[in-house]
Amino acid sequence: MKADPAPQPRILALASGSGSNLQALIDASRERGFPGQIVAVGCNRPGAFALERAAQANLQTFVVDHTRYDSREDFDATLMAEILRHHPDLIVLAGFMRILTTDFVRAFRGKLLNVHPSLLPRYTGLNTHQRALDAGDTTHGVSIHFVTEELDGGPVIAQAEVSVASNDDAESLAEKVQAKEHVLYPIVVRWFCEGRIQLGANCVLFDGDPLTTPMRLPDN
Ligand code: GAR
Repeated sequence: MKADPAPQPRILALASGSGSNLQALIDASRERGFPGQIVAVGCNRPGAFALERAAQANLQTFVVDHTRYDSREDFDATLMAEILRHHPDLIVLAGFMRILTTDFVRAFRGKLLNVHPSLLPRYTGLNTHQRALDAGDTTHGVSIHFVTEELDGGPVIAQAEVSVASNDDAESLAEKVQAKEHVLYPIVVRWFCEGRIQLGANCVLFDGDPLTTPMRLPDN
């Protein structure tokens, strides 16, 4: 008798806005041979377009509206309970614009990925594109990292660069960076589902070895 195939890693995505990264993940997960399955999408904004995208893809959704909670701790506790109902192996922050509490981050240590629109450690936090322009940077980009207690400070798995043109503004730069995000995030999620990347003591382990510099998607 043929053995049942091993169950695929269960991916849960969290989003707050347009959900273009979520869409890229949905599209990738539909490709033949993708090693994981998206089991649910959570959102902190009831009207977010990300929810629409998830519904279009027939994915289960849930909303935990942060405006209905008095404290970050209460919000995160409810969010955590909702997430646990889906037994995820991986939680993908796909434009999820909430700062997470230490308890939340610790509970999912090694299972939480984030996409951040800068070449970390440059420009943690918000307004990354304008800050890169203000600094006169000639390159900018995106980082995918494990989430740890330090905001946007967890070990970086992979980065992709874009060139900053003299006529770029924050909007055009955001577009260029997002195009890279949509390619890079599914690649990293695939690596995770294949068991190739893990969070080590304070580094990324890639195929079991510490990554000394983030993996790079070539600029083109
Ligand atoms: C993305 O560009 C992502 O890098 C950024 O929010 C955008 C969400 O877009 N995330 C952060 O700034 C996290 N600190 P999307 O909803 O279309 O994926």
